[in-house]
Amino acid sequence: MNTQKREIRNPRLNRVFDDLVETLRDFIRQHNLTYEEYHRAIAFLAEAGEKGEIPLLMDVFLEVTVDDVDHHGWAGTATTVEGPYYVANAPELKSPCVVPHRAHEPGEALVFTGTVRSSDGSPLGGAVVDFWQADAEGRYSHFNIPQAEAPYNLRARVTTGPDGRFELQTWVPSPYEIPTAGPTGALIKALGGHPWRPAHLHVRLTHPGHATLTTQVFLADDPWIESDVVGAVKSSLIRGMTRVSDPAEMKRRGLNGPFHTLEYDFVLPRQMAKAA
Ligand SMILES: [Fe+2]
Repeated sequence: MNTQKREIRNPRLNRVFDDLVETLRDFIRQHNLTYEEYHRAIAFLAEAGEKGEIPLLMDVFLEVTVDDVDHHGWAGTATTVEGPYYVANAPELKSPCVVPHRAHEPGEALVFTGTVRSSDGSPLGGAVVDFWQADAEGRYSHFNIPQAEAPYNLRARVTTGPDGRFELQTWVPSPYEIPTAGPTGALIKALGGHPWRPAHLHVRLTHPGHATLTTQVFLADDPWIESDVVGAVKSSLIRGMTRVSDPAEMKRRGLNGPFHTLEYDFVLPRQMAKAA
């Protein structure tokens, strides 16, 4: 037992860390952990560190709870986790726009529209919809699409018009597996789980005087919608797409094939003072 006398400089750190250690000690007693299991846990964490998977491990198993707790009492559109694939400084575009893409971007086009409002219902012109998603093969630019091939592919910061509306044309995302080659994937497999995330669009919305909203819009009817490996799906964030195959509509948008539309309105709460 550590009985050293401490000079407390950061009471929050002492309170939180001491409780964490106590919780883990209780856990060890509760499960009669053996030395072998203890050493396996250390080796697992060391491997996760060596392979750069600590953020992945934390995001898969814990981020959703941090998001819930940190947004307790939140008065806007439901939040969900940011995940590890956000990249800052995506190109700034004015609505309506087509997001950066490759010459032969795979899959069908998707027109994503919506209105951003304040919690009193007033539209928020000049709000920024920072948008990112996986492509039709479940890959993210800057991560598993080489940056030189397609910088900021399917990423943009889109500003809403005076009526709070935004319209961006992108491509329908696919579900994807979180990385499976490392220790996090091996653990999920050992637990009998699967590594899939249902298809989704990521957004981070900002407007002066309002709290930042980070969330995801999930495509209805996705095979993994009930069993997201990250547990980030909330029913209010699921939306169906409408498929448009009218040749006149396709021509109007300069598209050679059918496309989809999806509408989602977002509410940002006024900036709240955080409770101490
Ligand atoms: Fe994602």
